[in-house]
Order: sequence, then C-alpha cells, then structure tokens
Amino acid sequence: MHEQHQGTVTDKRNRPLRDLRISVTDRCNFRCPYCMPAEIFGDHYRFLPKESVLTYEEMTRLTRIIIRLGAVKLRLTGGEPLVRQDIDQLISQLAGLDGAHDMALTTNGVRLPRMAQKIKDAGLQRVTVSLDSLDNDVFRQMNGNRADVQDVLAGIDAAIAAGLTPIKINTVVKRGVNDHTLVDLARWAKDQGFILRFIEYMDVGNRNGWKMEHVVSAREIAEIVDKALPLERLPRNYESETAVRYGYRDGGGEIGIIASVTMPFCGDCSRMRLSPDGHIYTCLFAVQGTDLMTPLRAGASDDELETIIRDTWTNRADRYSEIRSTVSSSADKIEMYYIGG
Ligand code: GTP
Ligand code: 5AD
Ligand code: SF4
Ligand code: SF4
Repeated sequence: MHEQHQGTVTDKRNRPLRDLRISVTDRCNFRCPYCMPAEIFGDHYRFLPKESVLTYEEMTRLTRIIIRLGAVKLRLTGGEPLVRQDIDQLISQLAGLDGAHDMALTTNGVRLPRMAQKIKDAGLQRVTVSLDSLDNDVFRQMNGNRADVQDVLAGIDAAIAAGLTPIKINTVVKRGVNDHTLVDLARWAKDQGFILRFIEYMDVGNRNGWKMEHVVSAREIAEIVDKALPLERLPRNYESETAVRYGYRDGGGEIGIIASVTMPFCGDCSRMRLSPDGHIYTCLFAVQGTDLMTPLRAGASDDELETIIRDTWTNRADRYSEIRSTVSSSADKIEMYYIGG
C-alpha cells in the first residue's frame, strides 16, 4: 500500500468516508409495500441478470480499496442479503480484510434459521433484523403477505443461538398500518434485551407511493412509547449515528428513532453505498451513481479504481433529507431494494 493512499478522504461538506453499505443483491423474498410493492415487483419483474452483479471477489476488492480511503464500518444489505447464494463466502472474504473490524448484516430474518451459524462462523459479528409488528395480520400487510411473525422470531432465536448479538430490530412505521402496535414491540424488545429502532417511513425511490401523511414523526413515536413506557433522551454513541436514542426510565434497555424525514442527519453522514451492479452512491436518495463495474471489468488497477472512488467522494455535496421539500418529486431516485437502506 502506498503512503499517499492512507488517511481519510472528505467531501465538500468536510464529511469523512467512514461507512460502507454493500447491497449484495437486488432480490428479496418479501414484498414490503414501502420498498418493493408486489404490483410492480411481480413474477415478471426483471431483476439484475447474474452477469451484471459483482462477484464476491469483486466486492471484496472494491471494499479493500474503500477501506483504504477511510471506511471502518461495513454493512451488508440488499434486497435481502441472505437470499444470495453462499453469502458466507463473501463474509469470510470481507472478514479477512485489514481494517474491517465492524461488520453487520441487515436481514428480514426468515433465512436465519438456515444461515445464522454459517454466517457467524464466517466472521460476521451481529445482525439487525427488520420486524414491523408482532401482530401477524399487521406484519403480513407490512411485508406483502410473504411471512409470519413466527418465521422472523425463529430467525432471531437462531441468531441468538449462533451468538450474532447484540440484536437490533428495525421497525418502519407507517401511519394507519402498524402505528397502533408500536408499544407491543417496544415492550417485547425491552423484555428480550434487543435494541429496537423505529424508522420514519421514507420517500426512498419513486415506487412506494410515499406521502407525508403516511409518516409518523419521531416526536409522535416517542410520545406513543413514552406514555406506556416512560423514556429519557440518551446521548449519541458516535457522530454519524442515524438514531436518536432513548433509555427507559426504569433503567432497562433503550430504543432509537431514525428520523430521516423530520430530523435529518445529513450533517454527519459518512455513508457510501455500493450497489449489486458495482456503482457507488453517495446518498440514499441519489439519482445517479458512479460506475465502477465498467473500469473494474476492463482491467483497471487498484490505484485507478481508488482515484475514481476518491474523486466521487471529494465531489460529494448530498444532503437530500435536509432539502427534501425543495427537490422535484419527479427526480428518478434509486430504489431501496437496490441500495439497501
Ligand atoms: P448500526 O446502528 O451502526 O449498527 O448500523 P445499522 O446499519 O444497523 O443501522 P444504521 O443506523 O446504519 O441504519 C439503520 C437504518 O437507518 C437503515 O436501514 C435505513 O433505513 C436508515 N438509514 C441508514 N443510513 C441512512 C442514511 O444515510 N439516510 C437515511 N435517510 N436513512 C438512513
Ligand atoms: N422507509 C423507511 N425504511 C425503509 N426500509 C425499507 N424501505 C423503507 C422506507 N421506504 C427499511 C427496511 C429495513 C431497512 C434496511 O430499511 O425495513 O429495516
Ligand atoms: Fe425486502 Fe427489506 Fe425491501 Fe422488505 S424492506 S422488500 S424485506 S429488501
Ligand atoms: Fe446521508 Fe443522503 Fe441520508 Fe442525508 S439523505 S443522511 S446525505 S444518505
């Protein structure tokens, strides 16, 4: 490694590159209406063909370069990362990289009974499991009728048995759909010792029919939980943390609220995203990415790839959530299932 490659690169707003979120596939076994509505992602939907998707070796190579530029935190997402074949092979390759000391995976959980031990053995530290309600009818509505609560609970059990802890739970809140079941989730997570994070419903992509009236604000979410289980604010764990943290006043456990809509956190955003087809994006709401696949497969050297990635970050000025209301709603944004949160 050359000396000049060391050290962190910063963008136009002086934000360092610290996190890399790798979307390993655009496919998923759920059809959450807020992400992959079934009417659009039906049987004939054309996902990326295999040859357009990065191999594990290619992902690992790009990750190694991005770590050189400052990334210390790796997140594997999708789509659903556990539907990609032999994902444990990617995990073990990534775990072998110098500097990759914080690696987790975000999953809908239903493949964990089969995969938990394998991914743990491959070197994964922990998982974040998405679960939008404990009420089965509500949950099925949130996931497009693809799974039952029991399936996810079995996945969580398997993750615990394999030692993929501490477990975090992600809950997207949609007004009129699951907002009456938040306290049950909070009570359950508290009892189980899981860190629960409520996520404001976001206008990612263009296909989920997002409307502001479907958003339950962080403030409202905190009020709903606080009424049943009194809360107090906790300080941030680290600068680029997405969640506002609350502890229970009785001392047991915490929750987080990810308020991308009502309390944007672009000021400290240090996340780069790598798509399954080898493009890097500097914002979850980006319209365009930078193609690394073409140079990669044309034989570019590590140094050449590093220059493209560095230039992309150096030119970054994104702060979509802070300027949401001024952005044209017709902009063709990337989709969540493709870029993975
Ligand atoms: P840790 O909490 O650090 O363990 O990482 P994590 O990946 O489990 O959670 P993180 O806080 O990074 O992300 C949780 C969720 O917040 C994601 O699944 C997204 O839904 C949302 N999120 C993450 N990063 C961003 C971002 O940059 N912008 C917006 N708007 N939402 C984000
Ligand atoms: N708004 C908020 N959260 C979303 N997620 C997917 N789509 C949206 C959206 N439109 C969540 C998933 C998962 C995480 C990766 O992002 O439920 O927990
Ligand atoms: Fe799949 Fe996650 Fe999107 Fe739901 S939110 S469709 S589980 S990728
Ligand atoms: Fe980062 Fe874009 Fe989200 Fe702002 S909107 S926090 S810049 S990903």
